[in-house]
Amino acid sequence: MFKHLHMTLAVLSIALFTLRFVWTLTESAWLTKKVVKITPHVIDTLLLALGVAMAVKLMINPLEQLWLGEKLLAVIAYIFTGYYTLKLARNRMMQFIGYLGAMGWVMLVFRLAMTKETMFL
Ligand code: HEM
Repeated sequence: MFKHLHMTLAVLSIALFTLRFVWTLTESAWLTKKVVKITPHVIDTLLLALGVAMAVKLMINPLEQLWLGEKLLAVIAYIFTGYYTLKLARNRMMQFIGYLGAMGWVMLVFRLAMTKETMFL
C-alpha cells in the first residue's frame, strides 16, 4: 500500500515538475496560481515522508544499504536542479539544461529504486 502510494506520488511529482517547466517556457499565468504553487510541495513532502516511513519500517539504514543513501543524494540533486530550472535559470537555454539535468537525476533515482544496486557509492 505504502509502496504504491509512494510510486504514484513519484510519477505525479515528475509530471507536475514537467508541467511547470512547460509553463515556465511559455510564461503561463498558471504559475502564479496558488494551487499550482502549493500542490507540488504537498506531493513532494508526502513522497519523502512515505519513503522515510518505508525505510524505517523495513529497517533500511541508508548508511549501510548504500542504494538508499545514493537514492537520497540523487533526490536532493533532483530537488536542487528542479529549483534551478524553475526559479534561477535566466533564459530558455538554461531552463532546458536544468530540466535535462533534473531528468538525469530522476532516472538514477528510478534505477536505484528498481535494482537496489548503487552506481557511484
Ligand atoms: C523523486 C523521489 C523518489 C522516487 C521517484 C522514488 C521511486 C520509488 C519507486 C519507483 C519505488 C518502487 C521500487 C520497487 O518496485 O520495488 C520506490 C520504493 C522505495 N523508496 Fe522511493 N522514490 C523517491 C524518493 C524516496 C525517498 C526520499 C526515500 C527514503 C528516504 C525512498 C525510499 C524508498 C523505499 C524504502 C522503498 C521500498 C524499497 C523496498 O521495497 O524494499 N524513496 N521508490
